[in-house]
Amino acid sequence: MRSLVIIIGLAACVAGAQVKLIDGITPKVFPPVEFKEAHLLNWIELKKIALEHGGEVTAGHIEADVTDYVIKIMKNLQNVIVQLGLDPMGLSNQTIKLIPTGKLDIYDGWLSDLSTINISDSVLVRYTQETDILDLTLPLAFKSLLITYDYHVKIVLLSIKGTIDAKIKQVKCNLRLGFNLTSYHAFVDDVDITDSGTITFKFTGLGLLDWIINLLTGVLTTLFHSIILGVINAVIYVPVNSIVDVINTAIDNVFHNNSTSLI
Ligand SMILES: *[C@@H]1O[C@H](CO)[C@@H](O)[C@H](O)[C@H]1NC(C)=O
Repeated sequence: MRSLVIIIGLAACVAGAQVKLIDGITPKVFPPVEFKEAHLLNWIELKKIALEHGGEVTAGHIEADVTDYVIKIMKNLQNVIVQLGLDPMGLSNQTIKLIPTGKLDIYDGWLSDLSTINISDSVLVRYTQETDILDLTLPLAFKSLLITYDYHVKIVLLSIKGTIDAKIKQVKCNLRLGFNLTSYHAFVDDVDITDSGTITFKFTGLGLLDWIINLLTGVLTTLFHSIILGVINAVIYVPVNSIVDVINTAIDNVFHNNSTSLI
């Protein structure tokens, strides 16, 4: 009897599920962004590059390729993320009601590899002399993010504890930023999630059954989606030290606003 239980446990360890996250989502939970100081980019430097290396002025714009400059900024950002202790970063505990009955507790959560943030394409900056405005689109990408949690699920007569590993690959978004060089206001024009990534789950837990894995996968896809939105918003919401709050608020919002609509 005992060896049978162990075999089931091992089978659950190797069970994985690959899910594509929903496309076309936009981060709506957060208020519009306007930050007074530009922490992400040195706009004055960008203007200099645009004026020195820009091509012809067409329709009042000068455009310049600033890919190399932005790559350096991203390297800095990666270091800052590590230095601030945000990789790995703790995630909030959650209790999720399963419908029609049951409960999932997740705790000791961590998000890793945030420092894999990079750009996935070349970057052009545009300077408009008439308005004194710089703007550019950052094609941001996270090569891979890892979310881990411990869980305890109670459903029917079962009570199972174990761990969750979720690997999220190739999350991409275009972030359109602008900077008014008269008022020194940076603004975010638009965030467009071009690829919300693929998520692969691994569960461990003695006695974990296929139908429970499917149930957990469904619930957690929604939650981890909100974490990714939180990450993207956190990138927009510089300074970086608010990242943890932003992400935990995102997780809370999902469960406190929609907890009854899951499953
Ligand atoms: C830039 O800021 C100045 C000063 O606040 C303002 O007058 C101007 O309208 C702004 N430009 C644009 C295009 O918003």
